[in-house]
This record gives sequence, structure tokens and C-alpha cells, in this order.
Amino acid sequence: MTHADDTEGTRRDFLYYATAGTGAVVTGAAVWPLINQMNASADVKALASIRVDVAGIEPGTQLTVKWRGKPVFIRRRTEEEIALARKQDGEDYPDKLARNANLPADAPATDANRALDENEEWLVMMGVCTHLGCVPLGDGAGDYGGWFCPCHGSHYDAAGRIRKGPAPRNLDVPVAAFIDENTIKLG
Ligand code: FES
Repeated sequence: MTHADDTEGTRRDFLYYATAGTGAVVTGAAVWPLINQMNASADVKALASIRVDVAGIEPGTQLTVKWRGKPVFIRRRTEEEIALARKQDGEDYPDKLARNANLPADAPATDANRALDENEEWLVMMGVCTHLGCVPLGDGAGDYGGWFCPCHGSHYDAAGRIRKGPAPRNLDVPVAAFIDENTIKLG
């Protein structure tokens, strides 16, 4: 726990939505002056750990939040997406590790080890291509029904595992947890 937990009111400042690939961006412009008035140390603390209200995320959509200066994808998957990701468990993928900061480093890259919850409905990943850091496209993009990085053609599957292209690793899963029914804490 950090003092950042006490700064819940700032979390919305860093939210923006990437809806269905439209690129629509909504920022809390009105609250930026408040952030700018904070001293540097409080600003850093606010970024160390944030809480994200996910109540409004419908199945099949993805919320992108900015955390520690980087995008984080929070996807609520449909039954079909979950089924696809589980089926892909049995396929061959180059990176066998879950890359999940909430699990041991040697945890295998099963869908269950990548998802945030027991139902494997929620997938939380850094929105940073493991090749050179572009932000991959989502909503079933690419050849494997997950994410696609157009910079150099990396395809990630429905669990965010690298399947094709130059990216060496699965998309990283950050420290994250549900702290109540509608809130995910990052960090
Ligand atoms: S940065 Fe994503 S494929 Fe190169």
C-alpha cells in the first residue's frame, strides 16, 4: 500500500478510452490544472498505484489507461474470446512464459495464467509491443484474434501471447488485482 491509494480522485485524470478501434480519446482536461499544481512527489506517488473503475466496460471492449507513463489494456473478453484463448493454449507459441508479474517468473503461458480473474474474463496487459514498444491494435486484430502491432508486424493471440512477427515476448501482465467488484488496482 502506498499513499497513492489515497489519491483515488486523480485516477480518472489518466483514463482514456480506445473504443472499437475508433481512436476516440476522452481525457479529463478539466482536471489537469489540479495535477499540474501538485508537487512532483505527490504526482509520482499518484502514478505508482492507480485504481480503475471497470464497471462500464462491456464484454468485447477494452479500456486503455495510462499508468507509469505507459498504456495498459484492460479488456473484458467475451465468451468467444475466452474460448479462443483457451483453445490457443494447445497451440505452439514461441514464448512459453506467462510474463505475469502476479505469478512466479517460470509460470507457463496458459490463458489461466495470463487472465486476471478465475473466469478468465479480464485480461490486463501493458499496451507495449515487446519488440520496440509500439502500441498494438486490439479488438481481435491480427491473425490470431488478439492484438496486432503494425510497426513491424507482430501478431498476438487472444491471451496476448506473441504468435508471429519480430516481438520476442508475450505482452507483459502488470501487477494488478480486483480490490472490489468494479475496481482494478494497478501497482
Ligand atoms: S514495435 Fe511492434 S512489431 Fe516492432
